[in-house]
Amino acid sequence: MNIILLGPPGAGKGTQARRLVEERDMVQLSTGDMLRAARKSGTEMGNKVAAIMDAGALVTDEIVIGLIEEQLTNTRTTGGFIFDGFPRTLAQADALGDLLAQVGQRLDVVIEMAVDDDALVQRISGRFTCGDCGEVYHDDTKPLKSPDVCDKCGASNFVRRADDNEELLRVRLLEYYKKTSPLIGYYYAKGLLRTIDGLGSMDGVAGAIREVLASTDGAGSIAS
Ligand code: AP5
Repeated sequence: MNIILLGPPGAGKGTQARRLVEERDMVQLSTGDMLRAARKSGTEMGNKVAAIMDAGALVTDEIVIGLIEEQLTNTRTTGGFIFDGFPRTLAQADALGDLLAQVGQRLDVVIEMAVDDDALVQRISGRFTCGDCGEVYHDDTKPLKSPDVCDKCGASNFVRRADDNEELLRVRLLEYYKKTSPLIGYYYAKGLLRTIDGLGSMDGVAGAIREVLASTDGAGSIAS
């Protein structure tokens, strides 16, 4: 099953994608993670996108579509793909439909995670991540079980993203409302959209996603 997790910054897309990877043997394709890896490794593309990401703006369609194309062509999965943070523009959405068709696949469902803006500020300002395994934490809602030790891999290397502050979140939110939220109507018109309440607990949101996937499993794939 191939799915998109759609929602504003901090909606919980990455958190839920990681659960689905464990539960359903799916592959998470996060363009944000790919871009952060590129800038860390200092590639030409990484250097090019660094300033854009630091400003909270969207990287060009050409770059992110290229990243997704590479992954779709070279990755094998039995559980399907979770698109996390992609697509973010109508051009990216069109490209995704074409790329999936090229590899003989299609999109099954788009899950919109609805969260109000005040909650996003709280979520983003408390987020930190394990620099070794990528597990995502929150100061209040998902603290470490033991101080300075990742629950998942035992590392003590934690990072806070440079764009995780209230000022940049507002810029990222504006980008979301201007360029990404039109995808809600786009996928609704294609009969692929399901909206869940992203404000519940992490377990509650995971349950809502599970229900959507169960009903989609039953219904079979819908053409993209
Ligand atoms: P990206 O990395 O994709 O960031 P984002 O979309 O802004 O989303 P986030 O990763 O910030 O949030 P999330 O929804 O994954 O939330 P999370 O699960 O971590 O993009 C970064 C930048 O890269 C962009 O600004 C852009 O420049 C560029 N970019 C990326 N993709 C692009 C594209 N396709 N096109 C162009 N440019 C692109 O959760 C947040 C926090 O809340 C965590 O601390 C978590 O523990 C906590 N939390 C999660 N769920 C809950 C819950 N239910 N209750 C309480 N707390 C919760």
